[in-house]
Amino acid sequence: MGFVDYEQDGFVGLITINRPKALNALNSEVLKDLEAVIDAVDLDTTRALILTGAGSKSFVAGADIGEMSTLTKEEGEAFGKIGNDVFRKIETLPIPVIAAVNGFALGGGCEISMSCDIRICSDNAMFGQPEVGLGITPGFGGTQRLARIVGVGKAKEMIYTAFNIKADEAYRIGLVNAVYPQDELLPAAKKMAAKIAKNAPIAVRACKKAINDGLDVGMDEAIVIEEKLFGSCFETEDQVAGMTAFLNKTKVDGFKNK
Ligand code: CAA
Repeated sequence: MGFVDYEQDGFVGLITINRPKALNALNSEVLKDLEAVIDAVDLDTTRALILTGAGSKSFVAGADIGEMSTLTKEEGEAFGKIGNDVFRKIETLPIPVIAAVNGFALGGGCEISMSCDIRICSDNAMFGQPEVGLGITPGFGGTQRLARIVGVGKAKEMIYTAFNIKADEAYRIGLVNAVYPQDELLPAAKKMAAKIAKNAPIAVRACKKAINDGLDVGMDEAIVIEEKLFGSCFETEDQVAGMTAFLNKTKVDGFKNK
């Protein structure tokens, strides 16, 4: 589909942003294609997604600067909403999404990776929020998600200085979970996705929801969110199978998502 490819391999879906001539920069069309691909994911049969960029140089080099260069204030705000809506859709998808960051993840590229559940990257990856150097703020969630992931002080430093960081620094500050040589990145992402897909899908989804929803509220409310989701797993076929297998000292031969 246009600028975004989708491949299904068993329980795992691979989404590739494919506009390598512009280093996979996000214009309105890419965002529209991305939303359509996400909407089309079969959530009954897919247990994890991987998001990456085409080519070996760039994950996503940001929002499209050419398209943004002539926007009015109102159009700028509307463009921000388009990106935010798609990224929020990724963040709140019921299944986990792994960002396999294979190069530049600048501006909107860093932001889209942060809307994913987990980030891993190649050793040539570079992260940053260069927006203030272009006369704008981050506009697809960067001012909000970066601080939540790496802490307020580091996020403010990165955003105010517009300084890019390399893969090792991204790992050091907790922006990515692991760094791989370029050719090992996608296999590593697939391996992680397969590990997720092996577990009870209803439980994995409940964990994602509990973590995400819990982070938005105070602890008293957060633990109630967990209690309800914990409770919702009981009496599922997979809970019965998982616990019975443990008690019988065997392993479940494939959870059913039921
Ligand atoms: N928008 C539009 N086009 C872009 C782009 C972007 N964000 N990033 C790269 N491109 C295009 C370049 O214009 C160039 O196109 P042409 O070949 O037609 O000239 C092509 O991709 C290759 O780029 P470069 O020649 O610049 O490649 P390089 O290796 O010399 O540099 C780079 C790579 C450092 C990533 C550089 O391209 C760059 O700085 N890009 C912009 C990064 C950026 O500022 N991103 C943030 C955008 S603002 C944003 O995202 C706002 C938001 O929060 C929503």
